[in-house]
Amino acid sequence: MEHRQRGARLLALTLLLTLLLSTVGAVTAAAPSSHKNGTLVMATCSDFPPYEYKEGDTVVGVDPAIAQAIADKLDMDLQIVDVAFDSILVGVQTGKYDMGMSGMTVNAERKESVSFTVPYTTSTQLVIVKEDSPYRSLSDFYDETDRGRQTRKDVMIGVQTGTTGQLYADEKPADRGFGPDHVTKFKTGADAVQALKIGKVDAVILDGLPARSFVRANTGLRIMESPYLTEQYSIAIAKENPELLSKVNGALEQLMADGTVDAIKAQYIDESTVSTFTDGGTRWGRFKNQFALNFLQGDKWKWLVQGLGRTLLITLFAGILGVLIGVLLALIRTTWDKNREELRARGGFRYGAMKVLNVLANLYLTVIRGTPVVVQLLIGYFIIFAASNSDLLIAILVFGLNSGAYVAEIFRSGIMAIDNGQFEAGRSLGFNYLQTMRYVVIPQMFKVVLPTLLNEFISLLKETSVAGYVGIMDLTKAGDLIRGQTFSAFLPLFAVALIYLCIVLLFSGLVKKLERRLHDNDR
Ligand code: ARG
Repeated sequence: MEHRQRGARLLALTLLLTLLLSTVGAVTAAAPSSHKNGTLVMATCSDFPPYEYKEGDTVVGVDPAIAQAIADKLDMDLQIVDVAFDSILVGVQTGKYDMGMSGMTVNAERKESVSFTVPYTTSTQLVIVKEDSPYRSLSDFYDETDRGRQTRKDVMIGVQTGTTGQLYADEKPADRGFGPDHVTKFKTGADAVQALKIGKVDAVILDGLPARSFVRANTGLRIMESPYLTEQYSIAIAKENPELLSKVNGALEQLMADGTVDAIKAQYIDESTVSTFTDGGTRWGRFKNQFALNFLQGDKWKWLVQGLGRTLLITLFAGILGVLIGVLLALIRTTWDKNREELRARGGFRYGAMKVLNVLANLYLTVIRGTPVVVQLLIGYFIIFAASNSDLLIAILVFGLNSGAYVAEIFRSGIMAIDNGQFEAGRSLGFNYLQTMRYVVIPQMFKVVLPTLLNEFISLLKETSVAGYVGIMDLTKAGDLIRGQTFSAFLPLFAVALIYLCIVLLFSGLVKKLERRLHDNDR
């Protein structure tokens, strides 16, 4: 019996390790390069038709096409990374991406942190309102008071976080803004437009062409006559990389001179279609239309399937990593707690080493449990593992390191809950401390903590939903992408919620079974 158990455990461990290693391999394996000057990594935020949007699961549009032409000129492979708009400049600055190209306006603030190429587009900022809005022109948003203009109390403007639209809107009314209290910041322009449709904001400030695509794709919206202001787009490159800047500038200038850039713009400006909402008459007809629009058109359901795959992959491997770290930390902490006196009496190296390990373990637990996982993910992505371009691997590491801290405490309380008699029994069998732990205490502890451990796993699964912050197309982000294209909140969000719920129920069911098994074994 003992033998069989040990064999099974060994087998399970080997299996897990093989799985882990093979995924890590798959995740890190770089695509073979066909160009001699390496890869050009471009960061963008694909919520911005016709400049960048998704077609199936590739990012297309004016910017990717120009970037491809630049890469071809430089004999490089182009790799596009799709992230939140407000993550692009940080990533360029830290060297995570070679360049940021995302309908990005050149302005003085940004020039402080990155370099810009020559501009390749002139654009305007426009104001979108509902068709039946009482606001006809910009001046309707203000009260005329003795002291000059002042934003009307009830006005709320929607913008995309980190864009120049936000910058202008946040300014004081005297500088043609509305003041931060009158501005709601959304993750994407599409979210802002959606908020406008359901009346959460009164107007949205957005770049010209995207604003027009959004208005075309939605019923009941219109653009205010006078443009808000004019700006220029160019490509952001790290200040530390002047060679790349001059190479890209050279290529871009050629492409503008020979008409390539204009041809690309002409092609995408009429072509970019965001899915259009169709009214299906009856309620059932509408539902069917919405269903088709959100899941069937353009095979969008596949995004959910792929997203789910990534969510499960991250959760599984982060879970394994978490258990490994958890066992280690719990062993350190309990060994110290249980044997402190003995170790102190014996003194010497062992005592010192254990003490240091224990302090480090405590520090780890404090820091990890004292900070939000999204922040840890951003730190991992932009700072600690900035050099890695395997986002999945980074996510696995961050979520694994995070979960390890919680698992450690679960294990520790599990070990502490084991009767001291068990330790004595182990010792009297001739085991030393570690052997007692390994053969007597830890196997029993697993049984005690199994339900709590599973709960941790379930929380982990749900926590990975923030992976989209660093551009990973997990389940949540897949739903967001659909939402950004179809402008319907209901179906994509409920579908995503339902999928998470099913997975959680499945896991809980499995564990109930397992628990019953373990119970039966006891008898
Ligand atoms: N031009 C504006 C800016 O630079 C908005 C760009 C937004 N781009 C995007 N892909 N969402 O701030």
